[in-house]
Amino acid sequence: MTMPVDLDTDAARLRTVMAEDLAARGTLDDPAWRAAVQKVPRHRFVPGFYLPGEECGGQGLPRWQPVTAALDRGRWLAAAYSDATLITQFDGDEPDWENPAERYGGAPTSSSTLPSLVLRMWTDAEVREGHTVLEIGTGTGYSTALACERLGSGGVTSVEVDPHRLERAASALHGCGYTPTLAVADGLYGYWPGAPFDRIVAACSFRAVPPALVAQVRPGGKILLTLSGWLYGYARVLLTVTGDGTAEGRLLGGTVSFMSARAHAAPAFGNPAHWAAGLTGRPRVAQHGPERITAATEESFHLRFLVQSAVPDAQLATVGDVVHLADVVSGSAATLTPDGDGGGGWRVREGGPVRLWESVERVLDAYDAAGRPGPETFTLCVHDGGQHLRHPRLPCLSLPSP
Ligand SMILES: C[S@@+](CC[C@H](N)C(=O)[O-])C[C@H]1O[C@@H](n2cnc3c(N)ncnc32)[C@H](O)[C@@H]1O
Repeated sequence: MTMPVDLDTDAARLRTVMAEDLAARGTLDDPAWRAAVQKVPRHRFVPGFYLPGEECGGQGLPRWQPVTAALDRGRWLAAAYSDATLITQFDGDEPDWENPAERYGGAPTSSSTLPSLVLRMWTDAEVREGHTVLEIGTGTGYSTALACERLGSGGVTSVEVDPHRLERAASALHGCGYTPTLAVADGLYGYWPGAPFDRIVAACSFRAVPPALVAQVRPGGKILLTLSGWLYGYARVLLTVTGDGTAEGRLLGGTVSFMSARAHAAPAFGNPAHWAAGLTGRPRVAQHGPERITAATEESFHLRFLVQSAVPDAQLATVGDVVHLADVVSGSAATLTPDGDGGGGWRVREGGPVRLWESVERVLDAYDAAGRPGPETFTLCVHDGGQHLRHPRLPCLSLPSP
């Protein structure tokens, strides 16, 4: 696509400002990545995206406004060079950017990740000149383009599960002169034709580390991915692969989340009230309230991931002031209801073969007794027999089968 000269000039100016801002915030210390950010025209990768609208639509659904150059050039260009995630697709439906429409609600299924996080992923994965890299989740292709700038297109393979997304990303990449290996493929299986890689970096999250990724990295190579699950607990892990099919590495700190790999997304579980209606047992006093895993704090973010490992098939929904847990695999459920005496306590009622909240409480008790250790003190060990999260003062937690 040929852009008017003034657009390219404006874009270059905004790109410099963005690079300066990222550097000032400490996310662009490496001169080679800074040069890549200065060079890659992000606006060419995001011809259309959605930004949150001001008020919610009917039924309280979030309102999303389409942003394109035709609708509002200034807003589009400023957003393209802001450190923001730009959502490009909801519910797997590729929008018609010639006739974009406002929308209400929906689950984001593709985006251009905020540049600071893209850079953090490439930096944390210790990507260097000469490496061969597999990226999972091409999305818009912006992160792929940064890698091509740094490594040369020959070192970069990127796979995307959504053919419409990949087609658009490929056209933007080729239009800018980048020629990485691109394929419509499910990243759960890596990309055997390009293996072995020095690095694999995933821009979508997985319930456990896909074994194919471990098999496709050279001994000593690294995999950086985000683990997630049906409780929407997240942890990033940087694994080093050994020669015998195993991998091991620390969890990284922070509150980074990525959308789920499509096959790992949480299944719809129906109406929480239907699940609650089957709970006939007597309620008991909860030892821990749901805020331990739902509060907007870094500790809750980490705890949500830990407890998710104990109840991997559970999902959580809040309706009014009642918190529901439902497990579609075992049929177990729990509801937590405020005590009502103003003391902040909760009552829990549980049913089914798995005592969901009791399992959560066991993890919380152990975590408190261990002195509330942060993510960086946990090690994930991946081997033939499974995937285990280890900590010197805590019982081992296992991830579900990938
Ligand atoms: C956050 S977006 C990627 C952002 C991208 N790196 C960028 O900068 O534009 C995540 C992408 O992962 C893709 N995805 C989801 N599940 C996948 C899978 N199993 N294999 C490959 N790609 C997947 C989604 O379609 C989506 O485009």
